[in-house]
Amino acid sequence: MGFPDKQRGRRSIFFGKAVGLGSAALILGGVNGGPLALAEDAASLAPERARELVRMVRQDCGSCHGLTLRGGLGPALLPENLSARPLPALKYTILFGRPGTAMPPWQPFMTEAEAEWIVVQLLRGFPEESQ
Ligand code: HEC
Repeated sequence: MGFPDKQRGRRSIFFGKAVGLGSAALILGGVNGGPLALAEDAASLAPERARELVRMVRQDCGSCHGLTLRGGLGPALLPENLSARPLPALKYTILFGRPGTAMPPWQPFMTEAEAEWIVVQLLRGFPEESQ
């Protein structure tokens, strides 16, 4: 009888799909773990340093990227502009600049963890300066 075989066949296709979805979820979970893990690092930043970095981004980065970060000489740094980019690429752009463009390296002024913190804040919608 062909019928039970066919059912078994269907079932294994179903399981095949389920496994496929499972690993897709795992992969997505891994990707999602990145920013969350970074956000935890960010929480350990001293509040005064966080204020300094917010000021630096609004003033110094803002001179090229626009005071509202909507773009100027440099591209907009809003969540919708950055969310498709890999996080490390954004971090290293900040640390090392983009040779051959106006984007300068900021490594002399911040640690790698601080550059990550800035990227996470940019992706969330960058905070306003608090006076
Ligand atoms: C002197 C001008 C200038 C300053 C100051 C500047 N940038 Fe840029 N930035 C640029 C330009 C121009 C680009 C685009 C480079 C390119 O064409 O790839 C850029 C690109 C970037 C990118 C990549 C954006 C993307 O869509 O890939 C990020 C992130 C970034 N800048 C963050 C910063 C941060 C954070 C600061 C301050 C710490 C800063 N920039 C200061 C000019 C500047």
